[in-house]
Parts: sequence; structure tokens; C-alpha cells
Amino acid sequence: MTAESNLVPMRIPETLSSDRLLLRPWRLEDAAFAFDLYSRWEVARFLGRTPAVMTDPADARRLVARLTALEDDLRCFRVAELAASGEPVGTVMLQPIPASGPSEPLRPSGDTEIGWHFHPGHWGHGYASEAAGLLLDTALADGLPRVVAVTYPGNTASQRVCERIGMRHLGQSDAYYNVRMELFAREA
Ligand SMILES: CC(C)(COP(=O)(O)OP(=O)(O)OC[C@H]1O[C@@H](n2cnc3c(N)ncnc32)[C@H](O)[C@@H]1OP(=O)(O)O)[C@@H](O)C(=O)NCCC(=O)NCCS
Repeated sequence: MTAESNLVPMRIPETLSSDRLLLRPWRLEDAAFAFDLYSRWEVARFLGRTPAVMTDPADARRLVARLTALEDDLRCFRVAELAASGEPVGTVMLQPIPASGPSEPLRPSGDTEIGWHFHPGHWGHGYASEAAGLLLDTALADGLPRVVAVTYPGNTASQRVCERIGMRHLGQSDAYYNVRMELFAREA
């Protein structure tokens, strides 16, 4: 299998529904929610190569605009809101994951990663597992052959989400992002 062969165009519906959640695209009015989410260290501490909290609400507006513009048939960014009230509780995403390497920007690995960021006020209710499981099942059913997830070794909550949505733990890996992480994968 070549490095590129796991990247196939996706047709994820704009909205997806589970028992308790609606997954829908980001809207500019979600910027306040994005700031409330990413300005918290308990959320930011496990995100990105150099974790940092967001400190400027303008960054949240730029982020939402960027996610909306980035969306294409290889990338999918969805807000998870409570079906009953419309309150946003988190976000799930699928996107090409960069391979480790010497040059910046890092080149695509040929794999797609799934991720999830939920508001601490809503942790522990199974929302991350419900939203991520729905997105993962949809992508695999749609023809994506393989999806990976990487977590920092200390991120046990996220590792539980991986297990709950049927991803296999492949041990530690430094194949992506130039960072050693716990690697999980699920094949169609
Ligand atoms: C990871 C995260 C999305 C989990 O959200 P959640 O809605 O609480 O997840 P769920 O309710 O679906 O629970 C998943 C599992 O994690 C466990 N869990 C939740 N919070 C936990 C914590 N602080 N420590 C350890 N386990 C935790 C739950 O008990 C559950 O495990 P179980 O099946 O054994 O009961 C949330 O903690 C988060 O957004 N963290 C910050 C961002 C982040 O780390 N994203 C992932 C980057 S790889």
C-alpha cells in the first residue's frame, strides 16, 4: 500500500445525528464557544505539538473561519451540540495527519486522523465517544480504509475514547508530528 493510498475523498453529510447529539459544521457564532473551550488548560494541555491556551477571543474567530474554509473532501470539522437544547459541547474532526520528518511544514503521511475536544463542563457523559464513534463509523462506511488517532501518553481519557469507538492500540509511535504518542487505528 502506498503512503497516499489511505487518503480517499470523503462524503460526510453536513449533519449527523445520534441519540443525544447533532454534529454540524462550525458557524461564526460558535467563536465564543471555541474560545471558552480552547482557553482552558485542561483542554489545551494535550493538543498540538506545543500545547498552549488561547488567550485572545479574536484567535477563536480566526480559528472558526479557518476551519470553515479548510473543510474539503479530505477534512471534516464538526461541532457536537446537544440535540435537545442546541448547546455546543465539543468538536470532532477528521483530517490528513502529517508524517514525522525533517522539513516544515511536515508532509502528509497518507493517513487520516480523527480527533475530539470536549468542554470540561460536559465530560464524563459519553459525549466524546458518541460523537467520535458516529463520525468514525460514517467515514469508514463511506469508503475511508483506515483512520488513526494519536494521544499523548498521559491522556487516559482520550485513550478510553479510542477504545470505546473500536480503535486498536498499536503501542507508542513517533511516525506522526515528530512526537512520540500512543497510536490507535481502525480499519474499515
Ligand atoms: C478526551 C475527552 C474528549 C473525553 O471526553 P468525555 O466526553 O469525557 O469522554 P466520554 O464521556 O466519552 O468518556 C470516555 C472515557 O474517558 C473516561 N474519562 C473521562 N474523563 C476522564 C479523566 N479526566 N481521566 C480519566 N478518564 C476519563 C471516561 O470515564 C470514559 O471511560 P469509561 O468508558 O471507562 O467510563 C475530553 O477529556 C477532552 O476534551 N479532553 C481535552 C482534549 C483532548 O485531550 N482531546 C484529545 C486529544 S488526543
